[in-house]
Amino acid sequence: MNLLLQIWRSSLGKKYIMALSGAGLFLFVIGHLVGNLQFFLEPAAINRYGHFLKSTPEVLWPARLGLLALIGLHIVSALRLTAENKAARPEQYQAKVAPKDASLASRTMAMSGAIIASFIVYHLLHFTVQTPQVNFTGTDFDQLYEPNSGGADIYAMIVCGFSVWYVSLFYLISIGLLCTHLGHGVAAMFQSLGLRNHTWAPRIATGARVAAILIFLGYASIPVSVLLGRGKEYAKRIQSGVSPDKAGSAIKAAKGVEK
Ligand code: HEM
Repeated sequence: MNLLLQIWRSSLGKKYIMALSGAGLFLFVIGHLVGNLQFFLEPAAINRYGHFLKSTPEVLWPARLGLLALIGLHIVSALRLTAENKAARPEQYQAKVAPKDASLASRTMAMSGAIIASFIVYHLLHFTVQTPQVNFTGTDFDQLYEPNSGGADIYAMIVCGFSVWYVSLFYLISIGLLCTHLGHGVAAMFQSLGLRNHTWAPRIATGARVAAILIFLGYASIPVSVLLGRGKEYAKRIQSGVSPDKAGSAIKAAKGVEK
C-alpha cells in the first residue's frame, strides 16, 4: 500500500500510471472497433456479439469496472500532472508562447481529453442506457427487437441512431478528436515508459499517426455508411415491428427475453 502511495505521489509514478491506463484504453478502442466493424456483415453478426456480451455478466461487468478504473486513473493522473507542471513552471504560462516543436495535438491534449470524456457520457446514454431523449429519432431504442432471437437489435439501433445527421456529425468530430489525442498519446506513452530513443522516435510517431488514422477511418465508416443509406430498409421494418424475414410475430412473443 505504501509503495502504491509513493508511486502515486511521484511525478514519474503518475506518468507511468497515465501511460499504462492510456495503453489499456487504446486496446479497448481497438477491441471496440473490431466488434463494431461487424456492422458491415449481416445484422445478425453484431446482434449476436451484443447478446453474447449481455448474456455473460461475468465477462461484461469486470470489463466495465476495469474500463471505468482506467478512465478514472487516466483523467486524475493527467489533471495532477498538469497542475504539478503549472506549479513548477509558472513563467512559461505567463509568456503564452507555444514550444517550437510541440504539435497542435500535443498542446490540446487536455481539451481533446475533456471533449472525449463528454462524448463518452453522451455515447453511453445513447447506446448503452438507451435514453430516448438523447437520440432525437422519436424511437425508444429499448423497443427494437431482433425478430429471430427476440433480443436487442443493435444493428437497427445503430442505423436509427446515425440516421440523425447532427448526431453522426457529433460522433465524427468526437472520433476525430479521439484520434488526434491517440496519435500524440501513443507516442508520448512510449516516451513515458522509457521505450523511445532517437532511432525509434520518428518510427513510433509515424506508427502512432497511422494507427490513429486507421482507427478514425474504421469508426467513421459506420455513421458515414448509415448516412449513405446502409441498413435503412432493415431498420425501418424493425422500427415498425415488422420482421424483415416475415417472422414479425416472434418479436412480440420474445419481448423481454433478454433485456
Ligand atoms: C461508430 C462508432 C461507434 C459505435 C457504432 C459504437 C457502438 C457501441 C454500442 C452499440 C455500444 C453498446 C453496447 C451495449 O451495451 O450493448 C457501445 C458501448 C460503448 N462504447 Fe461505443 N461505439 C462507437 C464509438 C465509440 C468510441 C469512439 C468509444 C471510445 C471513446 C466508445 C466507447 C464505448 C464505451 C465505453 C461503451 C460502454 C461499454 C459497456 O460498458 O457496455 N464507443 N458502443
